[in-house]
Amino acid sequence: MIKNICCIGAGYVGGPTMSVMAYKCPEINITVVDLNAKRIAAWNSDNQADIPVFEPGLADIVFKVRNKNLFFSTNVEEAISKADMIFMSVNTPTKEYGKGKGMAADLKFIELCARQIAAVSKTDKIVVEKSTLPVRTAEAIRSILNNTGNGVKFQILSNPEFLAEGTAINDLLNADRVLIGGEDSPEGKVAIEELTAIYAHWIPRDKIIHTNVWSSELSKLTANAFLAQRISSINSISALCEKTEADVTEVAKAIGADTRLGNKFLTASVGFGGSCFQKDILNLVYICKSLGLEEVAEYWDQVIKINNYQKHRFADNIISTLYNTVSGKKIAFLGWAFKKNTNDTRETPAMYVADFLMNDLANICVYDPKVSETQMYIDINHLNSRTEEDNSKYLTMVSDPYIACKNAHAVVILTEWDQFKELDWKKIHDNMMKPAFVFDGRNILNRKDMEALGFKYQGIGK
Ligand code: NAD
Ligand code: UDX
Repeated sequence: MIKNICCIGAGYVGGPTMSVMAYKCPEINITVVDLNAKRIAAWNSDNQADIPVFEPGLADIVFKVRNKNLFFSTNVEEAISKADMIFMSVNTPTKEYGKGKGMAADLKFIELCARQIAAVSKTDKIVVEKSTLPVRTAEAIRSILNNTGNGVKFQILSNPEFLAEGTAINDLLNADRVLIGGEDSPEGKVAIEELTAIYAHWIPRDKIIHTNVWSSELSKLTANAFLAQRISSINSISALCEKTEADVTEVAKAIGADTRLGNKFLTASVGFGGSCFQKDILNLVYICKSLGLEEVAEYWDQVIKINNYQKHRFADNIISTLYNTVSGKKIAFLGWAFKKNTNDTRETPAMYVADFLMNDLANICVYDPKVSETQMYIDINHLNSRTEEDNSKYLTMVSDPYIACKNAHAVVILTEWDQFKELDWKKIHDNMMKPAFVFDGRNILNRKDMEALGFKYQGIGK
């Protein structure tokens, strides 16, 4: 029976996942650790608004269980040492250097975790891969853990996380499935059952899938590749709709009514963002290339290419519609987060569209209900397209959507926050330069309503 859990990594996965686990398993003590002391202090804050991950419902759960059976700490060694089970939930970003640069997953944080576990452990432990990892990573982890020479035994499980940001709490509480990959040995089976018993506190056992470790690791990359592929597929059709007077929303509805296709993940947009899709597909492409599967690599690479094309196409269309020049023009951005109901901005399409328009010397004014100005500048400066001074000259953020839109030549919707539908669009129109353009990168507004107010409206694929 597992009594003590340690989770390494207090990010968008570690924080919400362990909060829900602690909430559903009051008899288990869970400590979430992170090297980032500021992040841990924020998780321990008395103010709900300071919890570092914004997710609907998350702060309520944290406040119910924190310091009862859920703890946030920077003492990594102590938490590892006490734990019977350790989740590795650290980041695995795309490599920015050396071999595999721009494609492979950077596994330095995972390896560091494994080495810390190896160095500190004095009792047998189950180590769970919660991070998204290239297929066969468990082999490397096993090699590090099994060479400590201190007689401690480790079982390694793969338990990828399928939550989506913005709906994380619901996704965790009502998961479609939980996937556990483990070794086909008596010890492996015991470890699989220990983790299954934890999830069985709230997930029906028939939704807990058992596979070998490699299938589990690969299923996570595959799931994200298939989901992103659907978005690129509908986005490619959106380009065709714009040339033919077909309406992509109608096409999506018509094809989604076929139960074999299903109606989810068919919303055409400015492109997908987020920390997972691009990173995981690039990783998949890299693995295929490394194994000599060029055609397979090319097939999946196309999903990324269409996504880049879509962001570029959207920005390009803004410039050509605004009489081929945005130089010196104020452009209002509604939204900076990569989707609604999150403060996460990793790979947000907004930053690429902003970058493209700033190349043409546009003045961009952003409003987002959850993203800070500091974060926005971190994002745009990371692209390295121009000096930080120029970024702060051409890109600003305000805390009021009406101020963002005042005197703007165009309003661009980058995130589908519900509150954008409720804005007083007449007031916005009255205070804009004329003609007043709206570029709706999320198709959240109604063309007829907007045109009735006098806007020149353009959605995606219509
Ligand atoms: P994140 O960057 O938000 O959090 C990772 C945390 O790990 C950071 O706070 C970092 O400081 C910490 N960390 C790194 N190395 C450490 C170490 N050695 N010791 C202690 N702490 C350490 O990342 P995330 O979004 O939570 O993603 C984590 C993993 O889960 C990734 O592999 C990602 O692909 C996967 N995943 C993410 C999502 C998502 O929606 N964000 C969904 C499913 C899977
Ligand atoms: C994704 C996967 O959905 C999740 O299962 C995995 O664990 C992590 O990666 P996430 O990136 O958090 O989750 O959000 P998701 O809802 O998948 O959206 C990703 C991006 O695609 C967003 O920018 C979103 O706006 C966009 N999107 C999504 C579309 O453009 N159209 C759609 O139909 C759906």
